[in-house]
Amino acid sequence: MNCTFSKSQVFPLIGARAEELLSSPLPMSEKLEALCDMLTTMVPYYDWVGFYFVDHDCKNELVLGPFVGEPTEHVRIPFGRGICGRAAETGRTFVVQDVSKETNYLSCNISVKSEIVVPIIKDGAVVGELDIDSHTSEPFSEDDTNFLEKIAGLVGGAL
Ligand code: SME
Repeated sequence: MNCTFSKSQVFPLIGARAEELLSSPLPMSEKLEALCDMLTTMVPYYDWVGFYFVDHDCKNELVLGPFVGEPTEHVRIPFGRGICGRAAETGRTFVVQDVSKETNYLSCNISVKSEIVVPIIKDGAVVGELDIDSHTSEPFSEDDTNFLEKIAGLVGGAL
């Protein structure tokens, strides 16, 4: 049996399920938690998957939303701090293949080797982000970036 993980097979499948899930009548928090669950379950190197949202009152801070994985102490992150804070500030996707080489990095867990953070945009502004930690070094390719930007786009459209 061939058990090799295929991004080109699995990513479109998750994309289709995410579209279905996000258009369902479930409360948004349940949809996002189910999405985190699907991503951690179906992609072997996505070990922690969560959402951060821009705080309604304090617009330059992120607040942790639904997530699946180990609890994190980073429940609030100011813009500019860590990978999450920089992705929120710039509105750009950050791919860090080796977190040990990052100086502006907020560590959650010593098992984490790499991270990707994708902003969620609504009406032209960053409203949140999708954050993924991996226990594998250099696991992310352009396929992950494209796929996760698509997922973040779907979430932004559903908010
Ligand atoms: N590592 C992130 C903090 C959030 S955790 O990964 C859940 C950062 O540097 O912003």
